[in-house]
Amino acid sequence: MASTKETITDELRAFIEAQQMFFVASAPLAADGHVNLSPKGLDCLRVLGPLQVAYLDLTGSGNETSAHVRENGRITLMFCAFAGPPRILRLYGTGTTVLPESSVWAELSPLFLEYHGARQIIVADINRVQTSCGFAVPLYEYSGQRETLLKWANAKSDQDLESYRQQKNTSSIDGLPTPIGEQVSEEV
Ligand SMILES: Cc1cc2nc3c(=O)[nH]c(=O)nc-3n(C[C@H](O)[C@H](O)[C@H](O)COP(=O)(O)O)c2cc1C
Repeated sequence: MASTKETITDELRAFIEAQQMFFVASAPLAADGHVNLSPKGLDCLRVLGPLQVAYLDLTGSGNETSAHVRENGRITLMFCAFAGPPRILRLYGTGTTVLPESSVWAELSPLFLEYHGARQIIVADINRVQTSCGFAVPLYEYSGQRETLLKWANAKSDQDLESYRQQKNTSSIDGLPTPIGEQVSEEV
């Protein structure tokens, strides 16, 4: 049964920090827009406070979450236990994108590992903390993080990554602009 908590308690924080991955969901407002759901691994997520989390988002071929939170803010993060006692945690909130040039980046980026492919930080202010049973989530044994994304980014120069983002990350699949896209249009 679902249960809501006032905040991310110390116990929930420990649960979050024990997970090797999380899922992030967001959607555009348009009724026919595509709902996005992304799996996120590596050591990218930080609990910033009782009602705030952030993750370091790495360069990839799409930029859905950032476009959606820019449009309407809505974001949900989900963590689930693949080992040990069953549990699902959903954090519902309002997201914002922090780009490397901003003063908030200077404040937050030291909290994260330095990944060459870092493109932005997604901060989520949480308005609902909900746990549920997870009785039907299968048991998996963790055998390691994939290094593919890191290797992919490390093979590129800063400039290559920058032009990749300008080519691929300026809008969502539904054509909504991302903060990276706005930045590009300001520069033109
Ligand atoms: C090298 C590479 C690695 C990727 N790894 C992931 C990944 O681990 N998780 C993921 O959600 N998308 C991954 N993607 C896919 C896209 O970046 C994906 O469309 C994007 O993550 C969706 O938007 P979001 O990151 O804003 O949620 C990868 C793409 C590339 C090129």
